[in-house]
Amino acid sequence: MTITRRAMLGGALALAAGGLAGCTAADASGSLISVGFAQTGAESTWRAANTVSLRNALSRRNGFDLMFIDSQGRQENEIAAVRSFVTRGVDVIVLAPMVESGWHDVLDEARRAGIPVVLEDRGIDPSDSSLYLSRVGDDFRREGGLAAKWIIETAEPGTRIVELLGTTGSSAALDRSAGFDRVIAGHGIRILDAQDGGFTRAGGKEVMAAFLEKHGDDIQLLFAQNDDMGLGAIEAITAAGLEPGRDIRIVTIDGTRDALTELVAGRLNQVVQCNPMLGPRVASVVRAVHAGATVQRQYIAADRVFDAKAAKGVLATWPY
Ligand code: AHR
Repeated sequence: MTITRRAMLGGALALAAGGLAGCTAADASGSLISVGFAQTGAESTWRAANTVSLRNALSRRNGFDLMFIDSQGRQENEIAAVRSFVTRGVDVIVLAPMVESGWHDVLDEARRAGIPVVLEDRGIDPSDSSLYLSRVGDDFRREGGLAAKWIIETAEPGTRIVELLGTTGSSAALDRSAGFDRVIAGHGIRILDAQDGGFTRAGGKEVMAAFLEKHGDDIQLLFAQNDDMGLGAIEAITAAGLEPGRDIRIVTIDGTRDALTELVAGRLNQVVQCNPMLGPRVASVVRAVHAGATVQRQYIAADRVFDAKAAKGVLATWPY
């Protein structure tokens, strides 16, 4: 499915797609394209890399005038950021939605102001899908499924696991859980506990310590929905006198340099990539929607899976 800014705004004509890479950096008059980017915050290493990627791609040198707002982990700040972009009349809004719901009113304001919205990273409620043109992100459902696939391929039926979940209500957490649950079902894996660790290292450490307090030696395997929570859990497991990667095997999602390093060291066992380097694709989509060209509904980044050997092969040049 494709959609254009003009179609969304009720105008007449969709320009031919023409290949996004071929679009020029600034608009036809040569002036900069003004972009408001509302980022969720700085909760994780992945997020920091994602912010750098977008800032670099949406630079003045590339033809953009970027207004960046770090929403500090609060949806109300993100909504206020989008509203401020509408008031300023930016050319295009880029939103990394913290959670799925609660966007209707402010995105409708953008629509009424004629400002196209591009989502990057997470998604929003399908019922609000007419309020944005395109999403550039990763396939969270597939990521959760790949983590579960590794578990059922390497763990005995009856293995007892705990889960560190991402931010409640975020599409990253919801879709990873959905993908994970679908693949793990019917294989006799026992889920002892699953709790929100907020996608942060501190959250992962705190929740894992509580799991260890409650379930003790019963825990055989941990699925952490991002690297930072898994790295925090390593600290909690070590503090409990256990050996992460051996006494408790661990699979995480993101593929940060820190996680790949732990994978090579044997304290993590498997890492599923979630690519944060979305900036260049976001920039090409922003240029296209600003020009009124047709864009795809979704652009999904390529993600891979790492074991220790694969991690060792890339670590020296890994970008995030
Ligand atoms: O939405 C992507 C997720 O958000 C990443 O897995 C996580 O690290 C980040 O905070």
